[in-house]
Amino acid sequence: MKTRIEGNCDRRGFLKLAAAIAMAAGAGVVRAADAKLKIGVVGSGRIGGTLGEIWIKAGNEVMFSSLDIEQDKALAAKLGPNAKAGSSREAVGFGDVVLIAVPFAALRQVGKDLADVLKGKVVIDASNPIVARDGEIATWAREKGAGLASAELLPGARIVRAFNAIGYARLPGFSQNKGARTGMPVAGDDANAIVTASRLIRDVGLEPVLVGTLVMGKHLIPGTPLGGEHTPEEIRRIAATLK
Ligand SMILES: NC(=O)c1ccc[n+]([C@@H]2O[C@H](COP(=O)([O-])OP(=O)(O)OC[C@H]3O[C@@H](n4cnc5c(N)ncnc54)[C@H](OP(=O)(O)O)[C@@H]3O)[C@@H](O)[C@H]2O)c1
Repeated sequence: MKTRIEGNCDRRGFLKLAAAIAMAAGAGVVRAADAKLKIGVVGSGRIGGTLGEIWIKAGNEVMFSSLDIEQDKALAAKLGPNAKAGSSREAVGFGDVVLIAVPFAALRQVGKDLADVLKGKVVIDASNPIVARDGEIATWAREKGAGLASAELLPGARIVRAFNAIGYARLPGFSQNKGARTGMPVAGDDANAIVTASRLIRDVGLEPVLVGTLVMGKHLIPGTPLGGEHTPEEIRRIAATLK
């Protein structure tokens, strides 16, 4: 089954991707919704640490990694037996799915150091190119588009852009929210990877909303119309106005 959609996200590409996702979900590509996923976190800071904790509470297993193994060990010890700490290489190897949540300036090095283990992995890319923080590489990535830039820096990874523009401190509240649903815009080229990422987005209490292929990843950064918190319907409406 071909589940990777290449190229521009015109209407036809979007529809092909949506159909492939429906097929992948129907074919049970991801394990049953109640089965645990193993998640490797590369960058266990504010966003990586927060998401990892939520995913553990939802019943998944997480291995945290950063540049500071002692901090990751302390975090894992606090979160119980489903939490582990390791090197970034170990975390990528451990994960059925990997969250990369590092400053964008670190992404090139991560991609080089872990190229062999990242190949073929489902990667949720929460990292944002922020010029004031990341410098030249962020300027390049914003010109190219954040999704396509990540794909170039992490070759062979099955990238899904998600969790890019809702502040980390807001994330623990969504699973308790009984009011209007909040959506999480998602962009990617690989239908199976999107199905897997969607499962983890739902674990956070958010509703995944596909906005297009990685070309549309350029809109999944803070400060764009899709940034911040929107209902799924609002996300669809905004996305329809974007190219
Ligand atoms: N904060 C938010 O609310 C939020 C929301 C959405 C998206 N984002 C994006 O997510 C990314 C992370 O943001 P953050 O706020 O979580 O930053 P943060 O708190 O500074 O965490 C960054 C993490 O990345 C690790 N790291 C840095 N270089 C690394 C490398 N080469 N290999 C492995 N790990 C590395 C850091 O390790 P050490 O601590 O050991 O240096 C730290 O654990 C950024 O791109 C940001 O734009 C942030």
